[in-house]
Amino acid sequence: MKVDGKHFRTIWLEADGATVGAIDQRRLPHEFIIAKLRSCEDAAEAIRSMLVRGAPLIGATAAYGVALAMRADSSDAGLDRAYQMLIVTRPTAINLKWALDEMRTMLRPLAASARSDAAYARADAIAQDDIVINQGIARHGLALIEAVAARKKPGEPVNVLTHCNAGWLATVDWGTATAPIYLAHERGIPIHVWVDETRPRNQGASLTAWELGHHGVKHTVIPDNTGGHLMQHGMVDLAIVGTDRVAANGDVCNKIGTYLKALAARDNGVPFYVALPSPTIDFAVNDGIADIPIEQRSADEVATMTGRTADGRIETVRVVPDGSPVANYGFDVTPARLVSGLITERGVLKADRVSLAAAFPERLSRAAE
Ligand code: MRU
Repeated sequence: MKVDGKHFRTIWLEADGATVGAIDQRRLPHEFIIAKLRSCEDAAEAIRSMLVRGAPLIGATAAYGVALAMRADSSDAGLDRAYQMLIVTRPTAINLKWALDEMRTMLRPLAASARSDAAYARADAIAQDDIVINQGIARHGLALIEAVAARKKPGEPVNVLTHCNAGWLATVDWGTATAPIYLAHERGIPIHVWVDETRPRNQGASLTAWELGHHGVKHTVIPDNTGGHLMQHGMVDLAIVGTDRVAANGDVCNKIGTYLKALAARDNGVPFYVALPSPTIDFAVNDGIADIPIEQRSADEVATMTGRTADGRIETVRVVPDGSPVANYGFDVTPARLVSGLITERGVLKADRVSLAAAFPERLSRAAE
């Protein structure tokens, strides 16, 4: 997608063929800074500190992390060390494990001398595949937007609500939830996005609003609690969110607060769709609510807020009384029964075991190995 007219991906291999470049998402929306990852440790720290974030991008970064590790030490021990270092960086997005398993399975049988080049090639392919997958999501999701647009008066926008950032910044390019939105915008369908601010880290306010704005898509940032009111008043045509892990039964794990939006959507007859690339499906988890690990993050993320002052300084201020305990669950699980459909690269599926297994049989058989 474009930043000030120039096309960017979130992560790429630099011209030296070794260093990995990535947009530092901790600095957005106030500063656009490129970070250089030169080692597996750098990649692990980038994921842990949320310099990069969003399930598909976490996976791509982990793949490049393995490539960086192979450059330094391509022995079996080096491969195992890289896997262990990266797998513990964040617990919820299954794309991390998926990418690490892909890399390890491909690299393990190779001679150590061949591993570095092969690892960079596979990491590049994982990143490129993510873009192709998201373009598939765009095409399938577009049909849902077009169906709403067909019922509107000429010029009247389709109103989509989204939560967190499942935009191009959360992937390598295009995004998942935003992919159909960008395609609809490209096709000239009037579209407007309600952007949940997404406390505590404000991925909606800081990232989704930034990327939609830079791409020229109309949007409005709303406090997280606003969605129910908008839905009651017919101001949301459909909700599209992303996900960090979809269980085999169709339960959907996504940024904390997603479940409440799904409840409000159900109560108001608003279709609630989840967009996902197939690496986000975890066939090893049968019950999302019981078995998906939910990341708990630092109290500081809730107790403080960071922003730009009128004179341009970036400052962090405390908004919770000293001494008040804070809970910071990063994700929640929306039960499959509240999901109108899963928008995947192979079509819009019912959120259930049979549909997921029929659409992605190869993923199911790999999980059974
Ligand atoms: O904690 P984050 O910012 O990594 O969480 C991101 C989300 O929850 C996204 O909605 C999800 O990863 C889907 S991204 C295409």
